[in-house]
Amino acid sequence: MAKMCSMRRYRNLFLNLTEDENMTKIENITVVGAGQMGAGIGLVSAIYGYNVVLYDIADEFVSNGLNKNFSYLERQVSKDRMTPEKMEEIKTRMRGELDLQAAVSSADLVIEAIVENLGIKNKVWADIGKYAPEHTIFGSNTSSLSITEMAKASGRPEKFLGTHFFNPPVIMKIIEFIKGYETSEETLRAAVEYGKSMEMQTVEANEAPGFIVNRLMIPQLNEAYHALEQGVASREDIDTAMKFGLNHPMGPLTLSDFIGLDTILFIAEYLHAELGEKFKPAPLLRKMVRAGKLGRKTGEGFYKY
Ligand SMILES: NC(=O)c1ccc[n+]([C@@H]2O[C@H](COP(=O)([O-])OP(=O)(O)OC[C@H]3O[C@@H](n4cnc5c(N)ncnc54)[C@H](O)[C@@H]3O)[C@@H](O)[C@H]2O)c1
Repeated sequence: MAKMCSMRRYRNLFLNLTEDENMTKIENITVVGAGQMGAGIGLVSAIYGYNVVLYDIADEFVSNGLNKNFSYLERQVSKDRMTPEKMEEIKTRMRGELDLQAAVSSADLVIEAIVENLGIKNKVWADIGKYAPEHTIFGSNTSSLSITEMAKASGRPEKFLGTHFFNPPVIMKIIEFIKGYETSEETLRAAVEYGKSMEMQTVEANEAPGFIVNRLMIPQLNEAYHALEQGVASREDIDTAMKFGLNHPMGPLTLSDFIGLDTILFIAEYLHAELGEKFKPAPLLRKMVRAGKLGRKTGEGFYKY
C-alpha cells in the first residue's frame, strides 16, 4: 500500500496533478463486464499503475478479456515498445473474478461496462451498492443512459457518475465524465484525477441522453444506414467519402462495425424515446441486429471479418 501511495505521488508530480487529502484515493479498480470496453478500461488502468479486477458473468468472458489484454501487451513487447519486465509488472496488476461480491470488496472505483440496457444495469448496480465499501466511487461506461437512474439504483447517488471511455480505451485518449442529479463535486474531482493520471483528455457534461459525443454521432451513423438502404451509394463509397471528405479516421459503416450494431441500436432507441423522431433507428440497423450481424465481434456487420 505504501509503495502504491508513493507511486501515485510520483505520477501526480510528473503529471502536475495536485494532491487533495479529502478526495477518495483510487488505487484498486474493479471493472464489471469484461467485453470490448471493460477489458480495454482494465488494460489502460493497469498500464498506468492501478490494480485491476475484471468481473463478468462467465469464465469464458473473463478469460477472453484478460487474454486480449495480455496479447496487446505481448505485441507491445514484440514491437520493442515495452520491456518484458514492464509487461510482467502490468500483467500482475490484472486479475479476473466471477463472484461480484469478492470482485468489488476492496474497490476504490467500480466501473460498469455491461450491455447497454438500463434494466440490467440497474439490477447489477443494486448488487454493487450492497457489496462495495462505503468510500467506493461508482462509474458507468454507458454510452447514453440515465446516470441519475443508475445512481438511484446503486443507493449511492452522490458517489455515482458517468465515466464514458471511447473504443479502444488504450488508444482513445478521452473520457467524458457525466454528472447525475446528485453526483458530488468530490466524486467528480476524484474521477477526473483518475482520468488525468492516465494522460486522458477529460470533458464534463451534465446528464442528457447521449451526453456530448453520442448525441452528435448517432444521427450521423443513422443517416449513413438510410443512405445505404436508399441506394445513395455503395458501403465502400459512403465510407470513403466521409473518410477523405471530412478527414475522419474511418467511415461511418466501418466505425459502426467496430462499435457493435447492437450497442448502436440500444443507444439510438434510447435517444429516440428521450429526444424524438430525428433519432429514430433506420430499418436497416434493426434488420442487421435481428440477423445477428453485429460487426467485428460476430465476424460480420456491414463488412465481413
Ligand atoms: N463498443 C463501444 O464502442 C462502446 C464505446 C463506449 C461505451 N460503450 C458502452 O460500454 C458498455 C459495454 O459495451 P461493449 O461494447 O464492451 O459490450 P460487449 O458486448 O463487448 O461486452 C459486454 C459484457 O458485459 C457482460 N455482461 C452482460 N450482462 C452482465 C451482467 N449482468 N453482469 C456482468 N457482466 C455482464 C457480457 O458478458 C459482456 O462480456 C455499454 O454500456 C456500451 O454502450 C461501448
